[in-house]
Amino acid sequence: MRALIKDGTVVTASDTFAADVWIENGKIAALAAPGTQIGNADTTIDAKGKYVIPGGIDCHTHMDLPFGGTTSSDDFDTGTVAAAHGGTTTIVDFAIQQKGGAMRAGLDTWFAKAEGKAAIDYGFHMIMTEANPAALEEMAAMVREGVTSFKMFMAYPGVFLVDDQQIFRAMLRAGELGALITMHAEIGLPIDVLVQKALAAGHTAPVYHALTRPEAAESTGTERALALAEMAKVPVYMVHLSAQRALERVMEARDRGLPAYAETCPQYLFCTEDDLRGEPGGPDGEWKGAGYVCTPPLRPRHHHDHLWRGLRNYDLQVVATDHCPFCMKDQKELGRSDFSKIPNGMPGVETRLHLLWEGVREGKISMNRFVEITSTAPAKIFGMYGRKGTLAVGADADVVVWDPNREKVLSRETLHMRVDYSPFEGKRVIGAPAAVLSRGELIVADDKWVGAKKQGRGQFVRRGTFSL
Ligand code: URP
Ligand code: ZN
Ligand code: ZN
Repeated sequence: MRALIKDGTVVTASDTFAADVWIENGKIAALAAPGTQIGNADTTIDAKGKYVIPGGIDCHTHMDLPFGGTTSSDDFDTGTVAAAHGGTTTIVDFAIQQKGGAMRAGLDTWFAKAEGKAAIDYGFHMIMTEANPAALEEMAAMVREGVTSFKMFMAYPGVFLVDDQQIFRAMLRAGELGALITMHAEIGLPIDVLVQKALAAGHTAPVYHALTRPEAAESTGTERALALAEMAKVPVYMVHLSAQRALERVMEARDRGLPAYAETCPQYLFCTEDDLRGEPGGPDGEWKGAGYVCTPPLRPRHHHDHLWRGLRNYDLQVVATDHCPFCMKDQKELGRSDFSKIPNGMPGVETRLHLLWEGVREGKISMNRFVEITSTAPAKIFGMYGRKGTLAVGADADVVVWDPNREKVLSRETLHMRVDYSPFEGKRVIGAPAAVLSRGELIVADDKWVGAKKQGRGQFVRRGTFSL
């Protein structure tokens, strides 16, 4: 099976050049001068006037996640199909070690959720809810299976929170194994006190989610996590960084030469704390803000500039989505009279590239940096590079033909995520995938699924150890 993407402009993290991309048996076979005849193609895709980029890698998703008294509304079927429509060809989702349970059981549960359903390739991080001796021992087996990163939480007391000693022990163990610890670095215990005080004062509206999780809670947690990683002499990756001061802590660590990495998410670049105030006077009033409840919370607008600058200047390495959708009806509604019961999370797996391309159009980041933060850097940091994250001979042919002139209005009506609202309803974006290939198969063309098979065509990606 041979495919040809012809007359496009190839954009990688480092280069931009005119080339035809030849694909054979799911891999990139050649990047050739335009018009070079290498053989006969079974499928030819015309990429004239378009960019040819590596498929997006979203290294932070939560499909089918039981959380906040309900379950995220996309499963591995609907969520990965939506991802593909948005130009993402690989996700890394989070399996969970249940408290008192083995990581093996958690991983098996997530394999069962994904197998036979995922439409694109997927890997797993493991959420560690206990770093006891058995769990520390088990980390080796996870790494052997290609689950080479672990998430630990300073937030969510009683659910995911682990103490500093456990984090430190897991970091030391990760160092021995070549694994990477990723951190949710908001300090959850004081946050809970603020939440209780707000509720006692009768403050129940969604915006109190943000007002009880101040920037200081994230910057302090970030500093603590960085210090623990420094003491353990290991790399560390901060997930969903949302705020200026947290970013400054990462920059200081990096300036001191520490292997500190951080991701942000589109919601922290495009939405603000004001979205959590809803639409006073509008049909849903302040309740509309529930659709913007995610953790860490959305911040005031001035943070956007700092995060964009961080992306441009290599202080932030990755933009992932933290895709964790809950419908307004029946799910977000659980917190109608108490903001702390609104399930935390926003939809985003499908709109990441559209939104970030706005940053390219506005001159905030280059096209090459766009490719780097959405595909190449996550591939490198999470042990997939070479196979994923670039366009090179021998790599998986996960390719997006990106049309910089294609317009789309983001709306729950036109998007594929299984959720009853869009945080970006009505937003017009310019730049969208014209074609998406996964391991050489054309799966999305002109916003329609065209792959032969959908559910279950995705394969598990056994990731390598940390090697940056
Ligand atoms: O609001 C969020 N982020 N939900 C998903 C869980 C997490 O902390 O990543
Ligand atoms: Zn988190
Ligand atoms: Zn998350």
